Amino acid sequence: MGPGDLGRALCGLPLIYHPNLLVGIEQIDDAGVYKVRDDLALVQTVDFFTPIVDDPYGFGQIAAANALSDVYAMGGTPITAMNLVAFPIKKMEMEVLRDILRGGLDKMREAEVVLVGGHSIEDQELKYGLAVTGLIRPDEILTNTGARTGDLIILTKPLGTGIINTAQKGGMASPEVVQGTVEIMAALNRKAAEVMRGFRVHACTDVTGFGMLGHLCEMLGEGEIGIKVYQDAVPVMPGAEEYARMGLVPGGTYHNKEFYAPNVEVKEDVSPYLIDILFDPQTSGGLLISVQEEEAEALLRSLQGAGLKDVSIIAEVVTEPQGRIILV
Ligand code: CO
Ligand code: CO
Ligand code: CO
Repeated sequence: MGPGDLGRALCGLPLIYHPNLLVGIEQIDDAGVYKVRDDLALVQTVDFFTPIVDDPYGFGQIAAANALSDVYAMGGTPITAMNLVAFPIKKMEMEVLRDILRGGLDKMREAEVVLVGGHSIEDQELKYGLAVTGLIRPDEILTNTGARTGDLIILTKPLGTGIINTAQKGGMASPEVVQGTVEIMAALNRKAAEVMRGFRVHACTDVTGFGMLGHLCEMLGEGEIGIKVYQDAVPVMPGAEEYARMGLVPGGTYHNKEFYAPNVEVKEDVSPYLIDILFDPQTSGGLLISVQEEEAEALLRSLQGAGLKDVSIIAEVVTEPQGRIILV
């Protein structure tokens, strides 16, 4: 399903309101937040999908890193997780499932998250993911809105996973490119989330299905701000542009473009392939961190110091054009 689909399905249904619900489904944020005490809230999120890589162990790692990411994007600390499994038991070896689960467990161990349970069903198509619970102080919640004029926005992983996965499915991607992409997707956003705690961060989200420009559009919130994106500053995975030029672009890219285009102004000299990359749906993408201007350089250096290679200041929060993204 594309951007807006779940929103449309829920439209008009009587949602459940509660005074302790701090971030709910209406906010289109990464995770929901429920206050249990004045100084403690639960962050909850769930994510699962069909395999995007051939290697079951790698897929398990990626699916877990992707599910955990939404807790990190809220500024929370994940503590427990549950496996969600749909498995075609009649046509697939149990060993495949074991490898997927092992990949997931290894990521949970790295994240210091405890597996507390799960649920599996038989299905025609394999699916795996996690339901994750984390903790957060209510006064430290970071949502995807709240960016302020003057903020600089940092992206912590390069873009291109959707395009590269499409190329791989078509047998067109080089093994080195695929391997590099798997490593990036399997990387936790934990370090980035820990590092950003020491800085004046006003908003945060992770780049996933809506593509970078789609998630930036969500960061516009009520539209009092605009975001100026610097095309040359956006980190792109090796191979992504080449495959985009070959037309190996997933359907999700077009859906994102169509849905968010009214909010995005593109200068004429931006390559159409780069635009595809900027709208490319990402799996387990990096964080978009909107930080107070004066602290952006220091945050960037700290992220690099923590071992993040492709971090970059990719955008600036501006007053004009209001409620829009401008790509320069
Ligand atoms: Co997210
Ligand atoms: Co998610
Ligand atoms: Co958030």
